[in-house]
Amino acid sequence: MPLDHESVAPPDGVVAPRFRPPAGASSAAAVSLDGEWRFRLFPHPDTGVDRAEPGDGWDRLAVPGHWQLAGAPHSWPYGVPEYTNVLYPFPVEPPHVPDDNPTGEYRTTFSLPAEWPDGGRTVLRFEGVDSWFQVALDGELLATSHGSRLPTEVDLTGRLGPGDHLLAVRVTKWSAMSYVEDQDQWWLSGIFRGVTLEHRPDGGIDDVRVRADYDHTTGVGTLRVDTAAVVAAPGAVAARVAVPELGVEAVAGEELRVPVEPWSAERPRLYDVVVETGTETVTLAVGFRTVSITDGVFLVNGRPVKLRGANRHEFDPLRGRAVTPERMLEDVLLMKRHHLNAVRTSHYPPHPHFLDLCDRYGLYVVDENDLETHGFLDEGWSGNPVDDPEWTDVLVDRVTRMVRRDGHHASIILWSLGNEAGGGRNVRAMADAVRGLDPSRPVHYEGDWSSDHVDVYSRMYAPTEEVALIGQGVEPPLERANADARRRAMPFVLCEYAHAMGNGPGGLADYDALFDRYPRLLGGFVWEWIDHGLTRADADGTLFAAYGGDFGERIHDGTFIADGLLLPDRTPSPGLRETAAVFAPVRIDARPDGTLLVRNRYAFRDTSHAELRWTLHRGEDELATGKLDLVLDAGDEAVVRPPADLPLPEPGEAPVWWTLRAVQQSPDTFEESWLEPGFVLGAGQLRVVDRAPLPAPAGRVTAHPEGGYQAGPARFDARGDLVALAGRAVHTFRVDAWRAPTDNDRAAGGGQERSDLENWRHAGLHLLAERKAGVHVGEDGALEIDARVAGPTTRAGFAARYRWQPVTDTPDAVDLLIDVRPEGRWPQSVARLGVVLVLDEPRAMDAGVRWTGLGPDESYADSRTAALGGAWRHTVADWQTRYTHPQENGARRGVTSAVLSFADGSGLRVDAGEVTVGARPQDGVELSLRPWSDDALDRAAHPHELMPDGLLRLHLDAAQHGVGSAACGPGVLPNAQLHAAPVLMRLRLTAL
Ligand code: GAL
Repeated sequence: MPLDHESVAPPDGVVAPRFRPPAGASSAAAVSLDGEWRFRLFPHPDTGVDRAEPGDGWDRLAVPGHWQLAGAPHSWPYGVPEYTNVLYPFPVEPPHVPDDNPTGEYRTTFSLPAEWPDGGRTVLRFEGVDSWFQVALDGELLATSHGSRLPTEVDLTGRLGPGDHLLAVRVTKWSAMSYVEDQDQWWLSGIFRGVTLEHRPDGGIDDVRVRADYDHTTGVGTLRVDTAAVVAAPGAVAARVAVPELGVEAVAGEELRVPVEPWSAERPRLYDVVVETGTETVTLAVGFRTVSITDGVFLVNGRPVKLRGANRHEFDPLRGRAVTPERMLEDVLLMKRHHLNAVRTSHYPPHPHFLDLCDRYGLYVVDENDLETHGFLDEGWSGNPVDDPEWTDVLVDRVTRMVRRDGHHASIILWSLGNEAGGGRNVRAMADAVRGLDPSRPVHYEGDWSSDHVDVYSRMYAPTEEVALIGQGVEPPLERANADARRRAMPFVLCEYAHAMGNGPGGLADYDALFDRYPRLLGGFVWEWIDHGLTRADADGTLFAAYGGDFGERIHDGTFIADGLLLPDRTPSPGLRETAAVFAPVRIDARPDGTLLVRNRYAFRDTSHAELRWTLHRGEDELATGKLDLVLDAGDEAVVRPPADLPLPEPGEAPVWWTLRAVQQSPDTFEESWLEPGFVLGAGQLRVVDRAPLPAPAGRVTAHPEGGYQAGPARFDARGDLVALAGRAVHTFRVDAWRAPTDNDRAAGGGQERSDLENWRHAGLHLLAERKAGVHVGEDGALEIDARVAGPTTRAGFAARYRWQPVTDTPDAVDLLIDVRPEGRWPQSVARLGVVLVLDEPRAMDAGVRWTGLGPDESYADSRTAALGGAWRHTVADWQTRYTHPQENGARRGVTSAVLSFADGSGLRVDAGEVTVGARPQDGVELSLRPWSDDALDRAAHPHELMPDGLLRLHLDAAQHGVGSAACGPGVLPNAQLHAAPVLMRLRLTAL
């Protein structure tokens, strides 16, 4: 009996779920039915269209694809994508869904290829259809299925005579299954993964279970291949299993023991295993590896490993979840190139090809079931399918379909039962079913905080203090002593942490240090891999990355869909480069005693594949280079320092750095063919010579003939306003403490009552204005301007004194000493402390900038591992990070000098002398350059709305507040907070 879309029964009329080899790995015939299908969209599931209707004259729609994206980026002929994170965009009354339920009728006509083998069976396979669907052949309804990110097979044997056949598929947008597919992503419908017709020969290999273990004490691999479901044809023999490279053979069900090289994410060694029955040959890429937990420590092949990963949704800015193999490879290579060694397939099994790539290139995978019921949270989890016996069968069906589909992948080291689906009886049912099928891998589920049914303790966004307690095994106990003892003996994983929304994540390095310190900590997965910004054309045809609300959705979660390490077009964000530096397998960190600590963080490799190259450099000059003769065994570390006989130069205009990089030697294996020449496995540095102090100025300001004052290249009016600098008009010069809020600034994180942004607004930082309190020329000839800068409604403010003094013999230069003191009560953080200088510059985007300081990317107090001291160049245009949701970006820290070159050939040089915040000396200033105001940056909803306005802003800050992870997780940690404090900054400005 066909089932309707509100049924909670498992699929009907389908072939029992089975393993399937990767495309091309079987000798059995297969043909793709992908391409243009005929399509019509109807408002309700009862479309009224006969299954035998061929659909001639209907629209054409690409399969695989989502119907909402058929006209992207310009038109949306079949309804728009909708984004919600937690809430269901329909009334919560499971299993019912609204009558208004867009339903697609798909049609395609096919015939069996002439060379299709006789005999055997023929199955039709759908790799993924969102959300509920029915399959009919030649007018006859055959199957009803669901489980959007899981395969469905329908047996067509005996139905495929010569000539054309009409395949009709009806797909609804909503179904009972929408309640268990409430993942934080766009709601996108349709046949979004491939469709194939596959021959199953009699006596073929219908199901393969592979168990390939590795005994690290003996170096012996154990291989057992079961082909339990081989359909017995008359006279069929048991399948034969061979590993040609190892010269071993067996029959299915027999155990082979042979010395092997093990598989790990570091060395993803695979062997071809050939399984053959006489009617079918399947060649599988098998990795030998064993996952175990001993004394609360997670081991691969007997060694503790740390997972340094990200959560990956399938996403393409034009195609949604219909990702191509090229995109999958791009993701895997981007992960490898940024030192990720793990991926959680949030929150559903990915396209199976992605797992093939993880096996081949080496990534540890947490394969996650297609399950999330987060929308029940608001109802106190009442009615949650995960605790409802009516749903047990369908939930067990889902999770076992995943295990059967994916069980042969060496890369999968944990099965995850789902995400944010609450607790209840079905958690146990699913866990039992998974263990029944595959006892070799531990089970994960974050929603089970007491860890009753899982093998690893998992949490998301736990703050560092709590993670430290868990690392030491001294976290607060569970009420049930047994459960507590069980959980305390488990490894701990952060299945999500370091929310990478917008400018961030901040604090990643703090977590990573804990992972290294405590063996119980298995590591974690940054949330998340990529911003899901869908490409959309605005009214002028300009393409931009759309997020929630950009399609006029009535209910949506706005920018929360843009929280990845990659921008939607897969441009790495500064957050990904920070992640790469923090995750580096060869970590090189400066120690306070002027040495570098080099740590080999591989679990299985020594560092003989890396060359430790150093350079001594000042500004753009390389002064000396060399190599260190050092090879570290896995897990070892060493303290190194510059060679004792290295001649160090006298202090000059830029600091001198000794920078050490671990550079991969040219790869010699396929698994590493993705490496770029000079690939850096880790870098660190020491500042070995500080920049020379700026000589004291001794010039005198002069009266300007038209009134006011002249101090070198700086001109002031009689009130003390800086009106021109280096020949260009100055619009504003004053103390500033505000920034265009980041997504993290907007949220109250980690138990804070109010967000940083609320605090800053409360203190009026966004409306700061200056009152001059006095202007006079001091005895030493400097122009002294006293001012007070404050926001409305508050007594708190900043008293500022600016001392401008020309530089003797350098008429183009002026020194500026800025002394800022907070007045009144400043209970909370401030965004920045420094000055903003706004100059006339009609071609601000084209201006070039060269700076000595940290770079090349932006860095903040709690995301600074990637930033290295040196000399860097940019244009103002490239200086901007175009976050999907515009916000503060682009700060370069530790700047000791910067040269701006304007399009008209003129320029401005800024040198930084002493800078202190409170009693703390800073290394130079933080520089930000913007061709638009912070206000415009704050107001813009998308980067393409930002237009240069003819002015160039320079922020010269003594410090800026960190970025934290408050959008989801802890706020800025105390070590990166900025509070109102006295500031001293000495700058020299030179017209060029
Ligand atoms: C988590 C959830 C993720 C994502 C994230 C916020 O709670 O598991 O799917 O929604 O929050 O970006």
